[in-house]
Amino acid sequence: MMRKGIILAGGRGTRLYPITKVINKQLLHVYDKPMIYYPLSILMLANIREVLIISTPHDLPLYEELLGDGSKFGIKLSYQVQLSPRGLPEAFILAEEFLNGSPSALVLGDNIFFSMGLQPILEKASEDIHGMKVFAYPVYDPREYGVVEVSAEGKVRSIEEKPQHPKSNLALTGLYFCDNQASSLAKELTLSGRGELEIVDLMRIYLKQDNLSVHNFGRGAAWLDTGNPDSLLDAANFIATIERRQGFKIACLEEIAFNKNWITQKELERHADDQKNSSYGKYIYNLLMSCK
Ligand code: G1P
Repeated sequence: MMRKGIILAGGRGTRLYPITKVINKQLLHVYDKPMIYYPLSILMLANIREVLIISTPHDLPLYEELLGDGSKFGIKLSYQVQLSPRGLPEAFILAEEFLNGSPSALVLGDNIFFSMGLQPILEKASEDIHGMKVFAYPVYDPREYGVVEVSAEGKVRSIEEKPQHPKSNLALTGLYFCDNQASSLAKELTLSGRGELEIVDLMRIYLKQDNLSVHNFGRGAAWLDTGNPDSLLDAANFIATIERRQGFKIACLEEIAFNKNWITQKELERHADDQKNSSYGKYIYNLLMSCK
């Protein structure tokens, strides 16, 4: 069965005001590319080629202008308005028609991942989607995230959203693979105390079915937050440090598409030409040179 992807790129980004007063947070740049490139690269690395982008009525046209129908990255993009943010599981409800019974991966538009061997982990997760699979990452202070407690045998003991007294240091990242029940289960959820549908409640339903698994990224990976000015700057510096040191770019969508044979050399050449004045475009140009 074809897997489909969803990027939730809505929200008001009030913790970044005034930066995000007139523009959606996921359109801001993280070093050399728009933030949304990073989660989109995650879906592409997972071999997902049909993606729905959900955002506000104000910002959705900007995403369309930036990314188009996806053909330049060898994928198919669709767009869906979210009138006001009502929590993450609403993405599965809004995407119901788009998913049309497919399993899916939901990624939050502001989540940045970098890890050794990330691609095989993502490919495997998207190949066999049973129930719901989530990804955890150890953080020093997990209080502002969903937190999962896992037993030594890998069984999920508890899941809590932004607990004052976390039972573990494992934060839940904004990447969720779900089987085809996600939309119908999301519709059964009720609003929480903060007036939102909660992703942890959806996880609890899958847990009750004994259908929830957790992958711990562990210490050899980076999961970066972009929620406030400091973490946004840290994320940009991290990307810049790795990219300048290695000479490889993180989340260059044209490169991923080309490596997967989703676009031709000719198309890659066109993208290099279109962006030739930037370091991003020059990088694509160098890729071309190396395969000539
Ligand atoms: C959401 C989820 C939370 C998760 C986080 C990851 O929180 O509710 O469980 O840990 O994303 O980015 P938000 O940042 O939307 O408050």
